Amino acid sequence: MKFFIDTANLDQIREAQTLGVLDGVTTNPSLMAKEGITGEKNILKHYVDICNIVDGDVSAEVIAVDLKGMIKEGEALANLHPQIVVKIPMIEEGVKALNYFSDAGIKTNCTLVFSVGQALLAAKAGATYVSPFIGRLDDNSTDGLTLIEEIRLVYDNYAFETEILAASVRHTMHIVNCAKLGADVMTGPLSAIKGLLKHPLTDIGLAQFLADHKKGN
Ligand code: G3P
Repeated sequence: MKFFIDTANLDQIREAQTLGVLDGVTTNPSLMAKEGITGEKNILKHYVDICNIVDGDVSAEVIAVDLKGMIKEGEALANLHPQIVVKIPMIEEGVKALNYFSDAGIKTNCTLVFSVGQALLAAKAGATYVSPFIGRLDDNSTDGLTLIEEIRLVYDNYAFETEILAASVRHTMHIVNCAKLGADVMTGPLSAIKGLLKHPLTDIGLAQFLADHKKGN
């Protein structure tokens, strides 16, 4: 399972990279705005800065919602750095754009996916990654993990190569459960990744080992 971090914060990306378990980064317009990155020039520079920190795919989202605009923006993003993956929303024009980029050999991440039907369409259109937003489904009294399970079943039925990128991961157990269900990738906050480290018996056991070692020396 690949681990992506879902942030545009360079310090958090650096910290995750030093852990040695990071496979990529996802961003979105809201995450960029949160970091105060505005204006086309600054946004493009920020994507390059992220690519220079992490070894792996970096999703950069288009703002256009028409095919022509998505192609223009997506090509500019892809030309920025070989690690860039063009993030395209699951709308009708987006499906056409996924198809276009697939034919052009440019990697894509189909975002804002909330149903199996949308995920099926993204795979048919040749998306590299599909991003079901599990946390936002949970927020709306719908089990996000069930969607991961169902997309896994459909993709396996037809050997689709599109990777399931569980997005809107909010906490550590989302990561564990996505791994159990066979998501190819998860993207979430650093806190959720670091939560995987924690177990009180580890801390108690280590304290005991160190105390016993001290007694013996
Ligand atoms: O990057 C897309 C997705 O991960 C957003 O997550 O927490 O804003 O629902 P969230």
